[in-house]
Amino acid sequence: MDYNLLTGNKVRLTALTEDDLEKIATWYEDIEFAHLFDALPAAPRTKSQLTKWYEDFTDSNTQYLFSIKTATTNEFVGYIEISDILWNHQVGWLSIAIGEKQQRGNGFGYESMKLAIDFAFSELNLRRLQLTVFSYNESAISLYNKLGFQNEGAYREFIKRNEKAYDMLLFGLLKREWESRTKNSEK
Ligand SMILES: CC(C)(COP(=O)(O)OP(=O)(O)OC[C@H]1O[C@@H](n2cnc3c(N)ncnc32)[C@H](O)[C@@H]1OP(=O)(O)O)[C@@H](O)C(=O)NCCC(=O)NCCS
Repeated sequence: MDYNLLTGNKVRLTALTEDDLEKIATWYEDIEFAHLFDALPAAPRTKSQLTKWYEDFTDSNTQYLFSIKTATTNEFVGYIEISDILWNHQVGWLSIAIGEKQQRGNGFGYESMKLAIDFAFSELNLRRLQLTVFSYNESAISLYNKLGFQNEGAYREFIKRNEKAYDMLLFGLLKREWESRTKNSEK
């Protein structure tokens, strides 16, 4: 494994705290962000809505929530979730947001995903991770392909935005696929 658990060259994954919620609220004020990240109506989130969301994570033993901090300046740029873990099947869902628009395209999303995947497979002992992405989110689809996720199908016309219906794609990654990629990249 190239990475220390939760610490990379560009980012660190740390516990998300209530202090981070104010910044997350500003990200949800951006309709483009909301349409890329969430199937819910694009609307600003109140502090109490976000606090409830945050408390649901901290009270749960099936979810992990990390804040993404830049390694050099410790700036809070996004967050990553491992959620809805089914411990009996060793399966979990992954979700990522680099909320700070000007910080996208710097390699933070890619490294954060690698750290979270390593954590999920080696620390939580999960054997499968999955996620969904809207068909118009080309950046995220390209990221998941680059990480080795496989497109496993589509929820056809799941999302309706601006009078048009879009598919929601399902992507999955198995632990053995990740390990063989990691081994090959170490050669
Ligand atoms: C999708 C997202 C997580 C990518 O994170 P990022 O830090 O911007 O991406 P990185 O700089 O780490 O790039 C990693 C890979 O992602 C893909 N990617 C990133 N930005 C891209 C863009 N503008 N166009 C196409 N592909 C892009 C590429 O495959 C890239 O690899 P490459 O640099 O070798 O081409 C980020 O753009 C984001 O949070 N967007 C808003 C919320 C969102 O869409 N979340 C995902 C919901 S499913």
